[in-house]
Amino acid sequence: MIREKGYPCEPWRIREAGLDLDVLAQSESVFALSNGHIGLRGNLDEGEPHGLPGTYLNSFFELRPLPYAEAGYGYPEEGQTMVNVTNGKLIRLLVDDEPFDVRYGEVRSHERILDFRTGTLERTIEWVSPAGRAVRVRSTRLVSFTQRAVAAIRYEVEPLDGEQTRLVIQSGLVANEELPITKNDPRVAAVLREPLRSEQHLANGSGALLIHRTKQSGLRMAASMAHIIDDSQETTVTTEAFPDWARTTMACVRKPGERLTVVKFLAYGFSSQRSIPALRDQVGAALAAARLSGWDGLVKDQQEYLDEYWDGADVRVDGDPEVQQAVRFGLFNVLQAGARNEMRPIGAKGLTGPGYDGHVFWDTELFALPVLTYTKPQAAVQVLRWRHATLDLARERAATLGLKGAAFPWRTIRGQETSGYWPAGTAAFHIGAGIADATMRYVQATGDDDFEREIGVELLVETARLWRSLGHHDRHGDFHIDGVTGPDEYSAVANDNVYTNLMAQRNLLGAADAVARYPEVAHSLGVDEEEAASWRHAAASMTIPYDEELGVHQQSEGFTRYQEWDFDDTPPEEYPLLLTHPYFDLYRRQVCKQADLVLAMHWRGDAFTAEQKARNFHYYEARTVRDSSLSSGTQAVLAAETGHLELAHDYLGETALTDLHDSHSNTEDGLHLASLAGAWLAIVAGFGGMRDHDGELSFAPRLPSRISRMDFSLLWRGLRLRVSVRPDEVTYYLREGDHEDGSQLELLHHGERVTVKIGKPVTRPVPKMSPPDVEPTQPAGRAPIRRGAQGPGSPRSTFAR
Ligand code: BGC
Repeated sequence: MIREKGYPCEPWRIREAGLDLDVLAQSESVFALSNGHIGLRGNLDEGEPHGLPGTYLNSFFELRPLPYAEAGYGYPEEGQTMVNVTNGKLIRLLVDDEPFDVRYGEVRSHERILDFRTGTLERTIEWVSPAGRAVRVRSTRLVSFTQRAVAAIRYEVEPLDGEQTRLVIQSGLVANEELPITKNDPRVAAVLREPLRSEQHLANGSGALLIHRTKQSGLRMAASMAHIIDDSQETTVTTEAFPDWARTTMACVRKPGERLTVVKFLAYGFSSQRSIPALRDQVGAALAAARLSGWDGLVKDQQEYLDEYWDGADVRVDGDPEVQQAVRFGLFNVLQAGARNEMRPIGAKGLTGPGYDGHVFWDTELFALPVLTYTKPQAAVQVLRWRHATLDLARERAATLGLKGAAFPWRTIRGQETSGYWPAGTAAFHIGAGIADATMRYVQATGDDDFEREIGVELLVETARLWRSLGHHDRHGDFHIDGVTGPDEYSAVANDNVYTNLMAQRNLLGAADAVARYPEVAHSLGVDEEEAASWRHAAASMTIPYDEELGVHQQSEGFTRYQEWDFDDTPPEEYPLLLTHPYFDLYRRQVCKQADLVLAMHWRGDAFTAEQKARNFHYYEARTVRDSSLSSGTQAVLAAETGHLELAHDYLGETALTDLHDSHSNTEDGLHLASLAGAWLAIVAGFGGMRDHDGELSFAPRLPSRISRMDFSLLWRGLRLRVSVRPDEVTYYLREGDHEDGSQLELLHHGERVTVKIGKPVTRPVPKMSPPDVEPTQPAGRAPIRRGAQGPGSPRSTFAR
């Protein structure tokens, strides 16, 4: 069936008109619902056809062996894979004698709407069965933000012709669904066959319960369903349960104009410790609470939760409706990934698909957490608390590696290192500095001293200890961190990676400052003055490689001397290079998978002069291929800072539209959460010029030609700051927060100190700037799609796959 190309531009929702089965798996990721605890892919209610069935619980995983052809000391021996848990979305329908299935009969119309303000996925279909009977089906699905263990579906069928139609709805729970064979791409998950072992199944009149346990990781989960049937007319209801499936069947006869309406409540729970009866009661209680609210109550609570979120988080972009929609889609998904994580991580794909095995990477602290810290700090702190809860594992890992402090895993679900490729896993120690940075940012933005005392100081101390033991002072006293991998995964095991060293420097200083503020915590962690002084000394002597001849920083020692990559001779089908070239070749040339030195210029912008930023940006633009979706958001930030506003707009579009345009051709495996968060960063840190170095908020707003107005909001220590940017002026509004009247905020506007008081907007001009003389260039065929003056989509680069 034909559908409109892409999704129409609508500011608050994603609407799909028609149904294209060729891109079903991709749309299942786009229409995924989640609250950070439960994730439901946007599978069709009737279960088939499907791209990838998916129901996930944050941190519910199975262990699997990590076999090596040639093992080495310290290699992780076990992998962790997110499990596709019991599917409760399933609702099959029989219309007279025909199963409702879009592959048969005629689909007269099909529409799905994901609404960012109601937090629901709505589907409306008109279908004519092969025997000629027409029905309208309407389903609305939600994963509750306010009741963490609950999801619900309202399903309604109405015959459109004939005298009367027999309708049978079968609403199910299915465990151990068969999953399609995966592609040969390292970024795709390992498929687990039948990971769940049944422990209990129960059926009552109109609901059922299935309890399962994973075979290796020993996690126990319960899924339960209950139904409310609109019983104004006769409907028979039966329920059966078996070890791996349960089903409630509702049968009735309806005339045109009459409807059968069913509300399905779902509850999920899991635990590594709780008994079968305890879990059974847990989901039973969650169902009782959901029924108490009822469908209307859940919908109302969902909307109120989102009203509150958007009030503090919304971004307005006038002049580029496509980006406007995509940015809200991104913000909605960052919220979905983190809202109710409650001491659990945020995976690279959130809970939208199985990509990367459901693992969490540095993406969380560097991309998702900056957004959540300023829009939903309650969610950000839960992730940091989760990291803290894994500290013992990180200490063990450091000890295994012969290091002090804590070595956090490059990829994991539960906290153990599970990367089987050490040059891009173990050696990517920079993740520790990212965690420290997110900790400091959260404390500065919220003033949450209790968190800092209980959790923050220890995270800073243990990560600082790692740097101190990983690095060394040479005979001249300079501090080096050798043999590490920075963000750019086309370089590995390099010396003095600038990003790593600058982030480690901040980590070391942040830890030294924190122990000075909390001497009793320092004492309990065994930190003495000598140790804190050694951190300051290492930070002060940090080596930052610079190429005097070229006048640019070296991403890592010696990078600018490496052989250049022949981009002119690299055809588009060879991208991403990691699938067509050996790593040894990528590692020894000047080709960057993603922003690395450019990322350092964002988060450690205080360590570079404006001139250095401009020169470095040019140099690395020409060598960065953006084979990682994490790159374009950062490139947008630095393009804006160095005055290339149209290019920044192009990169904003690229990062925001990564999934809506499926530009990396793998949205089917789940959304790219870091690039969605990158869209917010491109706006706030890019066009807004927001920086928070050393706890001071500064802005330097400037708009590209096509955007006539941009508004964004930040939560800062309980205050709500809204920044409204127009081409020539910027207005800062401070709104009520948790603080009493009289509160004020000091910030920098293009370097000028400004005091903003509650209810008293301050407007300042945007200083004139002459555009830079030379435009940066990208590797051949890798320029982003233009969105600026020339308008969207022209010219298309080969990158737009
Ligand atoms: C990127 C990493 C990222 C990972 C998960 C890789 O392609 O190079 O930086 O952490 O994807 O998103």
